[in-house]
Amino acid sequence: MLIYADVGLSPAILYWGDQLLDEPSAEALDDLRRRDYGDGSASVEVPITLMCESGTGFTGPPGLEVHRDGQSWALTLQVTAVSHDETSISIDCLDDQYGISTQHVINLDRVSDVARLTTSIRNEGNGKLALNALSAATLPFDSMLNEIIHFSGRWAGEFQADRAPLRQGGFISENRRGRTSHDRFPGVVLCEQSATERLGHCMGIHLGWSGNHTIRVETLADGRRMLQAGELLLPGEVHLAPNETYSTPSLYIAYSSAGLNRLSNQFHRYYHDHFVSDRVRSKPRPVHYNSWEGIYFDHSPATIMKLANEAAKIGVERFVLDDGWFLGRRNDEAGLGDWTVDPSIYPEGLKPVVDHVQSLGMEFGLWVEPEMVNIDSDLYREHSDWILGGPPDAQVPFRNQFVLDMARKEVADNIFKQLDDLLTEYDIAYLKWDMNRDLNRADSADGFPSAHRQTRAVYSLIDRLRAKHPSVEIESCCSGGARIDYGILERTDRVWTSDSIDALDRQIIQRGASVFFPLSILGSHVGQSVCRITHRTLPVTLQAATALFGHMGVESDLLKLSDAERAEIAEAIALHKKHRKLIHQGEFVRIDGPPNQNIIGVVDADKSNALYSVVQTMSNRDNLPGVLRFPELDPIKNYVLRIVWPTAQSSPHACTTGAVGWDDDAHVSGDVLMKIGLQLPLLHPEMCLIYELRANE
Ligand code: DGJ
Repeated sequence: MLIYADVGLSPAILYWGDQLLDEPSAEALDDLRRRDYGDGSASVEVPITLMCESGTGFTGPPGLEVHRDGQSWALTLQVTAVSHDETSISIDCLDDQYGISTQHVINLDRVSDVARLTTSIRNEGNGKLALNALSAATLPFDSMLNEIIHFSGRWAGEFQADRAPLRQGGFISENRRGRTSHDRFPGVVLCEQSATERLGHCMGIHLGWSGNHTIRVETLADGRRMLQAGELLLPGEVHLAPNETYSTPSLYIAYSSAGLNRLSNQFHRYYHDHFVSDRVRSKPRPVHYNSWEGIYFDHSPATIMKLANEAAKIGVERFVLDDGWFLGRRNDEAGLGDWTVDPSIYPEGLKPVVDHVQSLGMEFGLWVEPEMVNIDSDLYREHSDWILGGPPDAQVPFRNQFVLDMARKEVADNIFKQLDDLLTEYDIAYLKWDMNRDLNRADSADGFPSAHRQTRAVYSLIDRLRAKHPSVEIESCCSGGARIDYGILERTDRVWTSDSIDALDRQIIQRGASVFFPLSILGSHVGQSVCRITHRTLPVTLQAATALFGHMGVESDLLKLSDAERAEIAEAIALHKKHRKLIHQGEFVRIDGPPNQNIIGVVDADKSNALYSVVQTMSNRDNLPGVLRFPELDPIKNYVLRIVWPTAQSSPHACTTGAVGWDDDAHVSGDVLMKIGLQLPLLHPEMCLIYELRANE
């Protein structure tokens, strides 16, 4: 990257791309980048500065919008100080006339090559300053990046990658749901038209924020391209008093000239190095059992203990008690807000259950939804004025629940105390922190919108709990995957990727999520054989193959499964554990495959071990599928190749003919496997194969 930041002038990003061997001189750059006068435009082209502030005369979208009662809006920010070292730069700017300063901080992580950008604004004047919008940065980008991949979707269908050409005008993603959302993931990839998983230039950007956001990608009439990303602020949401500061969420940027896989691995590396706590790093990610889809609200200590027995037998390492354990919670109409154990279901509290789970060698985890309240709850009966958005009948109904105004100290303190008491009383290793509705009207009792304050308040509540209970791990669940972003991941350890555990849907969802997030945090479970969401019946073999390539878990009613089904899940868990380090820490590979197959893999750092998964999602168009060339192997190493899933016992869903694998004494070079590849056998929809490649020393 090249950044222009001379004292007295406006700062700007001049170049973002592959690392340069040497910085060009300012004169050379001027010559190289000099642009002609375009007919019908300003005699001097207005540059794209870091903030594109209105006082520069820029007619594209500004990166900063402020005013004082409608005045002081046309800012010009000039650099007052710059400090930098090898990996970071901090640029201070001031608009002296209007009394506004900004600070831009860019940190480059040399290992992953991911940069993190933030901007802060400070009111240096006397009166109140209204802040309408502030982007973390304005990033001009090369016009060879002429396509955009964005991630849309819906509940139970997150991370659907949509690719479209960039044309003159704008692409805008605005999220106003008050949570990260299922349908507007705060991240995009800009890429060459020809870019594939393995080839081509691409740039990924992600805003680490769990509230409202705007991402704007513009192609100006003069041909220049730029991107802005920041929090979407509701009218009047941020007013800065004199000397007050607002900081944007962090914007993460990665650039790859070797396709999308490289980009993803940069983000994954960054995640591993910056977000994984020592506590999580110190042990393998445990295999989960989660009670939700198996039993929903049908709780009793006896059922839970029986489920725990079966879970332990198949190799589960952490047992998570989902929704339905707390006061009055017999269905989704009551109980939220009262985080004490329901004595009518658990007369002796949770201790017998926790003890039982632990006696079987598993950790105990518990579901909570701390930001919410039901009208039918003691909390609401005592504090009906604690909800956001005005009285319930003025609000949009959403799963029978309302959002607590977490920015109010007394509310946050109450919820903190309830959770703290739970974590103090019971030996809880894990919280599944859920959040099941949008903030349709985030108006607080003080009359100001509160989506921003709510997001910050949730972050601080989690931070407070973490500080008091540092050994407790937390999962970010949000009706499935509506709160997956680096903002929440700075303080949580795993995500519930989607409420759909339909394995075929999950193949697509997990592939989309893997663009930004590593497999190690993507909760992925084997569910009921008839998926609760799609009503599709899918074989355990396929479900297991899908869950195996994530943070694996099981969610079916183990008491109703056949012995053969339990045995098959146990085998899959054993296989996952055997390869868990590779799956969670290896280099991740997506193959550009035909639309009727999803092929992914993982390869370890020294290219001695790899696993590749082939899932047939639809029928083949041709009689037979194509050849799989295994990328990322070592050309001079010799590999043994084996099919490790399905196993012989689970063969009904194995391929019909010609499945290939060979003995330890037969081997083929990485070069041949990468260039000639392996003819895949005939697979019908819902069939899958997992290949293991092991280098023969
Ligand atoms: C939504 C979550 O995504 C599910 O996994 C489950 O925890 C339910 N909420 C419980 O209400």
